[in-house]
Amino acid sequence: MLLKLGYHDTDEKKRISIEDLADECKTFYIAGQETSGSMLGWTVLLLAIHTDWQEAARKEVINLFGNQNPHSDAIAKLKTMTMIINESLRLYPPVISISRKVERQVQLGKLILPAAFFPFGLGPRTCVASNFAVTEAKIVLSMILQRYIFTLSPSYIHSPFPILTVSPKHGIQVMLHRV
Ligand code: HEM
Repeated sequence: MLLKLGYHDTDEKKRISIEDLADECKTFYIAGQETSGSMLGWTVLLLAIHTDWQEAARKEVINLFGNQNPHSDAIAKLKTMTMIINESLRLYPPVISISRKVERQVQLGKLILPAAFFPFGLGPRTCVASNFAVTEAKIVLSMILQRYIFTLSPSYIHSPFPILTVSPKHGIQVMLHRV
């Protein structure tokens, strides 16, 4: 919608080109799909290994939603699931390197920056969809947990592979059992 407005802007200086428009769409597609897929994949792997946490997450989901589809007021109450997603993002952050080019040198004085947990980046260019991505993951995981118990397949080979995001090179194979 905003992109369309930008394309039709009456002020020529503010107007964006068709190439810019296509680039923005590609950014959304790549930034949105690969990252979310990576987060969901690693979270499923962790839950397939740590079945006690999988059971705790399932209990929480059933308590809040029963067999109904997840609804917005209760999604905010998914405490265990939030912890699980944060731990998954800490262990397997989908984006591990962001390169920046500085226009001029910046003095930071004697400031020592501690190692920190910023899976969605920080500052003016932080991920525009961090809340959306986590909410989406909560819905997907809730709907899987309502239906299936899953365990790791013996064919799984651990192979985190950083290309654009950190993805499992050989996939994540799990075995599904109906709840
Ligand atoms: C688990 C999922 C996701 C992770 C871990 C993630 C992570 C990130 C990171 C680290 C950045 C760079 C922040 C920086 O430069 O400081 C970023 C930027 C961005 N993300 Fe995400 N992201 C996720 C999901 C999504 C989704 C679902 C969308 C869109 C539907 C999206 C759209 C964007 C866009 C457009 C930017 C560029 C923002 C800008 O430069 O102004 N992301 N994301």
